[in-house]
Amino acid sequence: MYYPVARPRRLRSSANMRRLVRENHLRVDDLIYPFFITGGRDVQQPVESMPGVYRFSTDRLLIQLKEVQSLGIPGILLFGIPDSKDAVGSGAYDANGIIQQAVRAIKDKFPELLVITDVCLCEYTDHGHCGIVHEGKVLNDPTLELLARTAVSHAQSGADIIAPSDMMDGRVRAIREALDEHGYADVPIMSYSVKYASAFYGPFREAADSAPQFGDRKTYQMDPPNLREALREVEQDITEGADMVIVKPAMAYMDVIAAVRENFDGPLAAYNVSGEYSMIKAAARLGWIDEQKTTMELLTGLKRAGADIIITYHAPDVVRWLKEDG
Ligand code: PBG
Repeated sequence: MYYPVARPRRLRSSANMRRLVRENHLRVDDLIYPFFITGGRDVQQPVESMPGVYRFSTDRLLIQLKEVQSLGIPGILLFGIPDSKDAVGSGAYDANGIIQQAVRAIKDKFPELLVITDVCLCEYTDHGHCGIVHEGKVLNDPTLELLARTAVSHAQSGADIIAPSDMMDGRVRAIREALDEHGYADVPIMSYSVKYASAFYGPFREAADSAPQFGDRKTYQMDPPNLREALREVEQDITEGADMVIVKPAMAYMDVIAAVRENFDGPLAAYNVSGEYSMIKAAARLGWIDEQKTTMELLTGLKRAGADIIITYHAPDVVRWLKEDG
């Protein structure tokens, strides 16, 4: 008679046994909840492709944030949907732009809540690209100045963390220098260091009305097959002054998260993007998967891969689910 030497099943025998030997945990403390903010009053417009996600006017967002605060979510990430767009994305760095006004209102009512602002031009440019366009090309260096202005205006409005997502070269340094010059040396930068040119951003572009009007973002966002390049991007951003880094998307890039974790010991965020959220919502609506179980499995997987921070549209659901599970 053969007996197995090791019996891993011994430690899987009951819920409490499994709790005891569990290696990774998803916690409320890990979560960042993204929001889309639009102008006007009393607006709460559903985003068709992202059930449960809305475009809020600031007054409505403030109501929503009471719940966010009572759930104990540490931070929110803001995206602005301006009333008008132009070639140079001036709404992004307007002192009275959509984000600037919203941040002032939020910090006034919820001083403790961490307000993270996405710094990019694509929601504000009429061509939908993340930088200045000249003869069909997205220009790197002239864009840096506008990104730096945007970051400073966010800090002046009270933003706690600046998150550049444009993928121009050298933007972390440009933003760091501008923040320091304007007296915001204490405001950290959470850089989207590793951002791939991904099809998973589709629903976000509907939500934020930010799809490029010509071409695509492949000349500035990373090529999905590349891993080593991600490590170079992280290294460069850290050298330029980034305090935290983001890998985005998350699900299809767990190997990238793990590799960045191996090479970088600072805070690492994984962005569970719109398309990842919508896939789960769609399959759950069809009754093909269990939304709670698949979401928790996926997000815990991001922790296992090495992420410290999870940016997810599922954030409030996660908190409720964690509570239900005791
Ligand atoms: C802005 C930006 C995008 C996302 C975050 N910041 C869209 C893009 O790069 O096209 C995507 C987030 C998501 O899909 O949830 N550049």
